[in-house]
Amino acid sequence: MKVLAINGSPRPHCNTATLLNYALEGAVSQGAETELVHLYDLDFKGCISCGACKEINGKSCGRCAVNDGLTPVLRKVEEVDALVLGSPIYFADVTGEMRSFMERLLFPALPYDTNHSRLIKTGLIYTMNQKEDVVKQIGWDLIFRLNEMITARKFGQSESLIVYDTILWDDYSKYVSMGVDVKAKAKTRKEEFPKDCQKAFDMGVRFAKR
Ligand SMILES: Cc1cc2nc3c(=O)[nH]c(=O)nc-3n(C[C@H](O)[C@H](O)[C@H](O)COP(=O)(O)O)c2cc1C
Repeated sequence: MKVLAINGSPRPHCNTATLLNYALEGAVSQGAETELVHLYDLDFKGCISCGACKEINGKSCGRCAVNDGLTPVLRKVEEVDALVLGSPIYFADVTGEMRSFMERLLFPALPYDTNHSRLIKTGLIYTMNQKEDVVKQIGWDLIFRLNEMITARKFGQSESLIVYDTILWDDYSKYVSMGVDVKAKAKTRKEEFPKDCQKAFDMGVRFAKR
């Protein structure tokens, strides 16, 4: 049983990476082999629309043909039993790197049927500054549902863990951060973030169970 996690944050030790590590710890607790990949360590681009993955009878049909820093990661995905993608929300969407990764991962399989894909469990973990009620009021949560649909279409199963009201800076007094209620954020960090970490851990346990 292999579980791969992909960090779409430029920060290797902050909110998103912490949650991904909890998910992997959960998987390890069930005996899984795990790996965490930091997308910002890699040199790659998003889909270049070359069409090679769609070429009927082409040698790359159903597979991304671009050869760059992401290629080994896409090959790893073909061998794992579960995949967890984590990204901060940047301007109401996943980061550019995560978006580029998703294009390369997901476009080759669409609109092919599931014969082109191995069915595995997939999880999507998002972290963001905003609070849950505001996110829902603005309708940002549509993006979470769409990503869940697209990943489920390729891999057969997908679930999301959405983590709101995270801390961006350890010390907000050093940064321009108007409108941030620092005390309330510290409280959320202390009381809610550990619950989210537990949810990530539980996701890892579920994913690693046969
Ligand atoms: C460029 C940038 C854009 C951001 N845009 C949003 C946003 O649209 N909505 C939001 O709630 N948080 C936004 N944030 C805050 C991050 O999503 C949040 O702090 C996240 O938890 C950071 O994840 P990390 O600690 O793993 O890097 C933004 C942060 C940055 C640096």
